[in-house]
Formats: sequence, C-alpha cells, structure tokens
Amino acid sequence: VTTPLLAGVSLLITAGPTREAIDPVRYLSNHSSGKMGYALAKAAQQLGAQVTLVSGPVALSTPFGCRRIDVQSAQQMHQAVMAEVANMDIFIGCAAVADYRPAQQVEQKIKKNRDEMTLSLVKNPDILSDVAARPDRPFVVGFAAETQDMEHYARDKLSRKRLDMIAANDVSKQNIGFNSEQNALSVFWPSGETQLPLCDKHSLALQLLQVIAEQYKEKQDA
Ligand code: PMT
Repeated sequence: VTTPLLAGVSLLITAGPTREAIDPVRYLSNHSSGKMGYALAKAAQQLGAQVTLVSGPVALSTPFGCRRIDVQSAQQMHQAVMAEVANMDIFIGCAAVADYRPAQQVEQKIKKNRDEMTLSLVKNPDILSDVAARPDRPFVVGFAAETQDMEHYARDKLSRKRLDMIAANDVSKQNIGFNSEQNALSVFWPSGETQLPLCDKHSLALQLLQVIAEQYKEKQDA
C-alpha cells in the first residue's frame, strides 16, 4: 500500500479575485475566475492533504472535502489567512489580490454630477510577505502573473517576498492564465526551476503539487 503524497499535510490556499469597494454598488477587481486555485485545492485533497481554501468571489463550487472561507476584499483575505495560517504546513497564494484599494469607502452611491473624477488608491497589505515573515512560517508558495520578462520578475518576487517557491504564468497570452481552462507554469525556487507545459488546470495542479511536495520534504529533512 502506498501512502498518498500529501497525507497528513495541512494546506492553506487562496483563490480567485478580490473586490475593492468604491461605493456600495461599485468595485475594482480583475479577471481571476478561481479555476487555478480551486484545481489546486481539489488536487491537494485527492493527494491526501487537509485543505482550507480562502476564496474571493467566484462562481465555482467547493471542491469535495475542502474547508472554504469566503471573503471579498484584500483586507478580508489577509485577515482570514492570518487567522488560519498557524499550524499550516504549506501556504499557496494563488489569488489575484488587488494591490490597491480606494483610499476612501463612501457610504452612499457616488453621483454622476462631475465631468471628471479622480479615484485615490492606497496599497493593500501583502498576504504572501506577511505569511513568509512569521517565525512559524509554513512552506510558502507564491504565484506570479507576468506579461513580460517572466523569469526576472518571478525570481525578484521569490527573493523579495522571501518565498520558498514561485509559479509564474504568462498572462499576456489569451489561452492561459486568467479565466482560461488551461495554463502553463514556470516554477522557480532558490536552487532550481522546472517547466510545466500547457495542459488543463487540474493536471497542472497535480504536477505543481508534486514539485511542491518534493521541495517541502527536502526542506523538512535539511
Ligand atoms: O483564477 P484563474 O482565472 O484560474 O487564473 C489564475 C491566475 C492567473 C489568477 C493565477 O494563476 C495567478 O497567477 N495568480 C496570482 C495573480 C497575482 O496577483 O499575481 P501577482 O504577480 O500580482 O502577485 C504575486 C503574488 O503575490 C501572488 O501569489 C499573489 O497572491 C500575492 N499577493 C499579491 C498582492 C497582495 N496584496 N498580496 C499577495 O499575497
């Protein structure tokens, strides 16, 4: 009898977009569908892990056996992750978290009484960096959505955010990345890298989890 690859491992995964409220009826967001993060959650559960999914607003059903926490904004996602991350073995940040939010959240719907308007934005907390900065940090895997110089920017995020691994996708291409059925990833860690070529997001998730499990176990044994 073989033990499943991630048996006894607890995994926290973020997925989907965040919504940053402008007023009660409008928000800033992006094209993340949640498919990549949900595929990772499903695949990790199938590989024997205990999975908690912190999800932005998406139109997907909860993968079998996963615990799901729904959030809307980056600040709520940050709060939910920080509340869950203690005792997690692996954290995967697959969500497309908004980097900025409107500086002011107004209570009433903004009226159309000006020809121009300026929206002032402030930076959101960086969830990955804050998880990686914890003394009891799990194995931390980030994603990088890039439109150019993928390796350069991914490696920069890997070291700047003090991650254990980063999975980069080229989101300038229509058939991969945001809201597509398929994806391709270039995966980097401090001492290595691997390419996971174009395939459906579930198969890709299984392959990425294989790479993560290898490096996670190597770090445990070091
Ligand atoms: O959801 P799908 O439609 O399936 O699309 C999948 C995807 C393209 C969204 C996914 O594969 C992906 O690339 N996710 C990361 C998107 C992103 O926000 O990339 P980034 O390069 O801007 O951010 C880098 C990393 O920092 C990410 O792990 C992100 O979760 C994290 N981050 C970003 C900002 C912030 N405030 N906190 C964070 O933790």
